[in-house]
Amino acid sequence: MSSIVNAMPYPAMLLNSKSQIVKANDAAEALFERSLNDIYLVRVLRHPEALAMVSEAIQDNQMNSGRVALTFQTQRTYEVTVAPAGEPLSDLYLMTLADISAEIQAERARSTFVANVSHELRSPLTSLIGMVETLRGPARDDQAAQDRFLALMHDETQRMSRIVMDLLSLSKFEAQEHIVPSDRVDILEVITRTTSALEASDPDYPGRIKIECDDPIAPIRGDADLLIEVFQNLLENALRYSPPNSAIDVKISRRQSKRSGAQRGIQISVQDYGDGIEGAHIPRLTERFYRVDKGRSRQMGGTGLGLAIVKHIINRHRGRMVIDSELGKGTCVTVYLVPYTS
Ligand SMILES: Nc1ncnc2c1ncn2[C@@H]1O[C@H](COP(=O)(O)OP(=O)(O)OP(=O)(O)O)[C@@H](O)[C@H]1O
Ligand SMILES: [Mg+2]
Repeated sequence: MSSIVNAMPYPAMLLNSKSQIVKANDAAEALFERSLNDIYLVRVLRHPEALAMVSEAIQDNQMNSGRVALTFQTQRTYEVTVAPAGEPLSDLYLMTLADISAEIQAERARSTFVANVSHELRSPLTSLIGMVETLRGPARDDQAAQDRFLALMHDETQRMSRIVMDLLSLSKFEAQEHIVPSDRVDILEVITRTTSALEASDPDYPGRIKIECDDPIAPIRGDADLLIEVFQNLLENALRYSPPNSAIDVKISRRQSKRSGAQRGIQISVQDYGDGIEGAHIPRLTERFYRVDKGRSRQMGGTGLGLAIVKHIINRHRGRMVIDSELGKGTCVTVYLVPYTS
């Protein structure tokens, strides 16, 4: 029995019918940060519910289990199970504590995510329903109103379709996160192409993006299409969240190891001189649907999925992204990428 307790992958101990610990494994001793042999459980576990669960199991000679929140360094949730050890140790009870905090966290994230998706799709749907009703009723014979409503309906359906497409690419990236893209990519070309495409998309954009690049610049390891998506999002954010004529400075530079001078990677920074972002929001920007100013982002056609996608793509490239921002001054997003090696 003692070797079974030791072989358990999570904290486990054998108790006698007086709730005294007869044998505890290393994981249990690590959890309680002390040696546990011969100690009464109540001395190390001061949690009334958990203790009640143990006494009940002993009294009824039956398995008992439940979730309890225990605080050691941080608060974590454990699934505590107490069960009679059975013959030939019929006077002993096996108690295990499985840490299920990660599962609970994942459960919570999943339900928040579903709530967010539903909410994001519900508002365009509600306005579509309203407009259809208007077109069938009051605006039935009003050509001008019909044109106006159809244009609005077009925008709302576009928006819904963009949300669904972004969600699909996110789930695709999640599934492929362990595959590291390994093509040879010319990062200056990626950025120049992205810039031209963006400039063609809005009359306010041409001439604002200024690109500076170290010469020569080594190729990087990656996937050009995915990287185009990254810089399209970053440059679009920079253009969107800054005044109409302000510049966007893009710098592509080498990173050298301080000691050996060897090439360590490439860094690309996208600096804008716009609204900036309050510090408290920065760590949350890569969460799905997170927007600092929902109204403003929505009005600009944003769904709050852009940076979530960017983060996934960069993780897949085994790169890094750092966001620096000062409210009212501007934002600088720096992406670090790995050089190509044949
Ligand atoms: N350069 C920036 N300056 C100021 N705020 C920014 C900047 N980049 C991002 N943000 C803030 O971060 C939020 C999240 O950005 P993200 O790109 O994920 O979503 P979005 O731009 O709102 O929509 P999407 O990119 O999906 O069209 C934005 O709504 C905006 O509030
Ligand atoms: Mg964006």
